[in-house]
Amino acid sequence: MRRQLVAGNWKMNASSEMTGSLLTGVLENLPADRDIAVFPPFPYITQAVAETAGTPVMVGAQNVAAEESGAFTGEVSAAMLADIGCSMALVGHSERRALYGERDYDVLVKVRQLMANGITAVVCVGETIEQRKAVREESVVSEQLSLLIAELSNADWEKIIIAYEPVWAIGTGETATPEQAQAMHAFIRSELKKVSDTVAEKTRILYGGSVKAASAAELFSQPDIDGGLVGGASLDAAEFTAICRA
Ligand code: 13P
Repeated sequence: MRRQLVAGNWKMNASSEMTGSLLTGVLENLPADRDIAVFPPFPYITQAVAETAGTPVMVGAQNVAAEESGAFTGEVSAAMLADIGCSMALVGHSERRALYGERDYDVLVKVRQLMANGITAVVCVGETIEQRKAVREESVVSEQLSLLIAELSNADWEKIIIAYEPVWAIGTGETATPEQAQAMHAFIRSELKKVSDTVAEKTRILYGGSVKAASAAELFSQPDIDGGLVGGASLDAAEFTAICRA
């Protein structure tokens, strides 16, 4: 049985005060039957790790350097993330792909850095509205997964979570229908069979894109949806808590 995970990607939104109050709200209402993770901006990770110490809440980063260490001004390495207590990191978020030119090869290299440091990679995939209109959503997602499927070992996959985030649903208020999301999640799981049946069965696949408390329960009850990656709604403790318990 895959344990569900609800993760909050705060994107570039936070302050010390907000980090404290958001986490207080989340910790007051933790569900017992699900994993919960938060992805604050880099400067607030240490605070979040301290404030969630001794609780089941995991803390992750929104990005990681492709390089190990050295003269890479402005970058943050996987070793540093491990050192400050991060157990997860997002890789290949659609905003990183669209705004910062991140390619599938960069995603693979970053995943490898995370693996080498014992950090779980949450790899984000998803098609644009043009690609969906052209009925290319499956081929786009298949392409985004193909290097990982070709290059990573069965053991590596124990440290990978996939997040399906259709670009047209991110920050738009337009959630994929449970049927659309389930269909893509089932497709992703069938792609993972190329690695092995075990990997296909065990890998958690999260849905992301305008998840709200009102839509979460139906999405999370689909057989191949193992939780959510929540953006905007994760910045409101009451809303995020309701999603975590949906
Ligand atoms: P929204 O929930 O704001 O649509 O963002 C989704 C997302 O990009 C999470 O990584």
